[in-house]
This record gives sequence, structure tokens and C-alpha cells, in this order.
Amino acid sequence: MRRLRLTTAGESHGPGLHATLAGMPAGLRVDRAELDLQMRRRMHGYGRGHRMQIESDRVEIRAGVRGGETLGSPIGLWIENRDYANWRGVMGPEALDEKRAELRRLRAPRPGHADLAGGLKYLRRDLRDVLERASARETAARVAAGAFARMLLAAFGIEIGSGVRSLGPVGAGAPPPAWEDLTGMDDASPLRAIDPALEPAMIALVDEAMKSGDTLGGAVTVVAHHVPPGLGSHTHWDEKLDGRLARAVMSVPAVKAVEIGDALAASAGFGSAAHDPIALDPKGGFSRPSNHAGGLEGGVTNGEDVVVTAYKKPISTLRRGLPSVDLDTLEPRESQYERSDVTALPAAGVIAEAMVALVLADALLEKLGGDSMTELQAHWTATRALQAEWPGGRDSG
Ligand SMILES: Cc1cc2nc3c(=O)[nH]c(=O)nc-3n(C[C@H](O)[C@H](O)[C@H](O)COP(=O)(O)O)c2cc1C
Repeated sequence: MRRLRLTTAGESHGPGLHATLAGMPAGLRVDRAELDLQMRRRMHGYGRGHRMQIESDRVEIRAGVRGGETLGSPIGLWIENRDYANWRGVMGPEALDEKRAELRRLRAPRPGHADLAGGLKYLRRDLRDVLERASARETAARVAAGAFARMLLAAFGIEIGSGVRSLGPVGAGAPPPAWEDLTGMDDASPLRAIDPALEPAMIALVDEAMKSGDTLGGAVTVVAHHVPPGLGSHTHWDEKLDGRLARAVMSVPAVKAVEIGDALAASAGFGSAAHDPIALDPKGGFSRPSNHAGGLEGGVTNGEDVVVTAYKKPISTLRRGLPSVDLDTLEPRESQYERSDVTALPAAGVIAEAMVALVLADALLEKLGGDSMTELQAHWTATRALQAEWPGGRDSG
């Protein structure tokens, strides 16, 4: 990111998670309910492991906010791991309880996880040293920081939502949703399916995987609504917003492909069906009857909704195990089982929303400049007025 900087720290069963978000302007009202809502949404979803019932994440704001307003200084966030009480002596910074640590040692790397590659890279014999940080628990810190990005975007009318487009084979090939499809769905439904008619078949599939000790992946689509034109830039490869979004969304654990608009379908068809015609809107501005491009042309937002789909591989930890090797004996053995989700797609959608929010907030700050909300609002008004003067411009309202 160019204006915002996010760092996180913390292990899955350590004392807790930190996030430091630098680069936010001063004078943004902090919406505590929004922060709590996003943390709750991340924990929701049919097919999640037992831990979701143990932990109800509460974010403590430790820096950068005074009297409910940001100061422009780095925002420091802390989320305690409630489960840490059971891991003291095993995951804390102090001397380990050798017996208990040995019981928790991971020595058969799990295929699909960072265990083997991370162990080799950092030369750790206990693969728990890798597992603990590679775990998607870290994304709680991202969602907390992302909530601040959402608050900034909301101040300029930009909203973000997501839903599960497909789970395993159910719904695979469904077109990406429009904003109205997301606002019409039930965000609290067990799997947050965009098409509620598919949800029973998805639930049945999760039950089947649960019974057989297997896991599932699928696709979640994030839509950002009311995004102004002109975020990102075509001028340099690293400023292109599609690339910046793809990187951020791909960094969500287990996401292995990112699609902008309906790129997969478009790549299999003709150009005449892939591009969005441009017409003048009688009410002012331009109209696009379709949004195959997902709101991005040349790496710049074009004023249409930004549509990003994350394709998530099935969860790597299978209860029934996968072939691996014991690092002590170098004999073949089944990978070790750690309490695990069967699918985490609904949560992945919320995390992808947070990443999209951070990238869009970063691009908005880059576009508008300024250190305070007052400056940003003034620059926003000026930019909108100048865009309205451009040929075919729409009244900036
Ligand atoms: C919300 C969420 C929850 C996850 N829960 C699990 C889990 O319970 N068990 C598991 O094996 N992987 C889980 N994963 C995926 C792993 O974290 C991920 O596959 C692993 O760290 C390897 O990274 P990679 O798949 O990005 O290469 C989860 C991912 C997300 C986004």
C-alpha cells in the first residue's frame, strides 16, 4: 500500500494479536459498532471449528484515537486470544513447560500448509513455530484494521459487501453478483450464500465433508459500491488498482486465484461479449449497461462497482489425514490433525472485504491527499467538481 501501512503481529495461540495501521487521516469518527460488527462477521459461518465458539473477539484500541476521533498517528489495536489460558507455558514468551510443549509439537508437516516450507526456511524443528503464525487467526487483526478503512470509505459514501458465490461444485460457474444481489441476501445465513436457493445444497455438502473427514473450498465475491472514478492509475504497473487488489486478496490464507469482474467467463468467449459499451446517460455522465470489467479499466476505477472474486482452495487440515513424513523418524506417517474448519468461506469473504477496503482507502487517500478529514472532504468536493466539468460530466451532487 502507498499511503496506508498495516503491520500485524501475533501467534494463533499466543497472548493475542496486534495491528498497527499508519497513514489514516486525523478527524475520522470511530464507529465502535462497525468495528464490533466486522469482528463478529469474521467468526460466523457453518463448517467452522470449535474455536469460533471459544473466542469472541473484542478489539482494544490502544493508540491513535482520542475521544472517539483518529489523531493522524498510527492506530494501535490489540485482540486478546481468549484460548491463551490453555496454552500458557507452551506459546508464551517465557521459558516453556517442556513436557506440555512436547505434547503440542508438530513433527509431521501438513500438506497444503506452510509447515514444511516454513520449517525449512526458518530452520525450526517444531513446526508449531510456523503453524502458529501462518494460521488464519492473524486475519482477525486485518479485519480490525479493515474496519477503520471501511469507516474512511463510508465517509465518502463507499460501501463494501460480499457473499459466497460457490462452495465446492455447488454454484460453480455462477456469474458474479451485482451490488443489489448482495444487499438482498441474508448476511447472517449459515453460509452467506449469494443465491439463497443454493444454500441447502451447500449445507448438505459441508455435512457430507464433515462426516467423511474431508474439507471444501469455493468462491466469494466482494463488491465495492459507489466507488468514484479515478482511483489507481494506468501509468505504472505498481499503481494499477487491479494488481493492488489482486495482491491484497490473494494474501488471504488459502486464496489461490483472484478474478476481477467476470474475467473467467470473458476469457472463454469473444471480445464482443466481454466489454462494456459506453453511452451518454441522459441524466448526465456516462452509462455502462454491463460491468464485465468489474469497475476497473487500465487499472483505474471507472465509476462502476468494483467486483473482486477470491477462489479459495479446500481447507488443508483433513481429519482423516494426508500422507506426510515424521521429521523425527523420517518414516512415512499421516499428517497431524489440529482442530480445524471444514470450510471457512463465509469468513474468507469478510477478510477479503477488509483487504479490499484497505486497498480502496489507500487509493482514495492517494487520490485526495491531505492529513485530515477536513482536507480530504475539501479535495473530494474539488475533484468531483472538476470531473463534472469534463465532457459529458455529471453534476457532482
Ligand atoms: C478464515 C479462514 C480460516 C481458516 N481455517 C483453517 C483451518 O481451520 N484449518 C486449516 O487447515 N486451514 C485453514 N485456513 C487456511 C490456511 O490458513 C491456509 O491454507 C494455510 O495457512 C496455507 O496458506 P495458503 O493456503 O495461503 O498457501 C483458513 C483460512 C481462512 C481464510
